[in-house]
Amino acid sequence: MNGLRIDSYEKVWMLASGVLLAVFLVAVAASVFQGFSLPGDEPRLDPTRTMVDPPFAQPAVVERAPGRYDAYVRVQIWAFVPNEIKVPAGSSVTFYLTSPDVQHGFMIERTNVNVMVLPGQVSKISARFDKPGEYLFVCHEYCGIGHHLMSGKVIVTPKS
Ligand code: CUA
Repeated sequence: MNGLRIDSYEKVWMLASGVLLAVFLVAVAASVFQGFSLPGDEPRLDPTRTMVDPPFAQPAVVERAPGRYDAYVRVQIWAFVPNEIKVPAGSSVTFYLTSPDVQHGFMIERTNVNVMVLPGQVSKISARFDKPGEYLFVCHEYCGIGHHLMSGKVIVTPKS
C-alpha cells in the first residue's frame, strides 16, 4: 500500500494553519465571553442637523433611573462635547454618540467601550463603572490635524 505522500514541510505548514485557526477560534470565543458586542441598530440622523436638533445640539448626561445614565456626546473636529462625564460609582452608562463632520472614534480606557462614530449615524454602547476614578476617553480614528487633541474623561465619584 502506498498512500498519499505528503512532504514533511507541507505537513508542518498544514499543522501550523490548523493551530492558527484554533487560536483564532479561541480568541473569538474569549472575546464574546468577555462581553464583546457589536454596536446596536440605532437611528440615522441628518448630519447637517446634528448641531441644531436635540439631543445632540445640547448633549448632556441624563439620569434615567437610579444608577442608570444616558450620556449624549457630540464627537466633532476636534473635541468631545461634553468632554467630562460625571457619574457616581456603581453606575451603568449608555453612551449615544454621533458626529456632525467626519469619522471619529470613541474609546474609554479600562472598559469595553470602543466604537467608531460616523456622521449621520448614532453609535450606542453601554458600560458599568464600579470603581471611582478617572477614565480617559480618546478619539482613536484619525480625523485630521487636531486628532491628537480629542480626549475627555468619565469621572466616577465615590458612592455617597
Ligand atoms: Cu476625532 Cu480623531
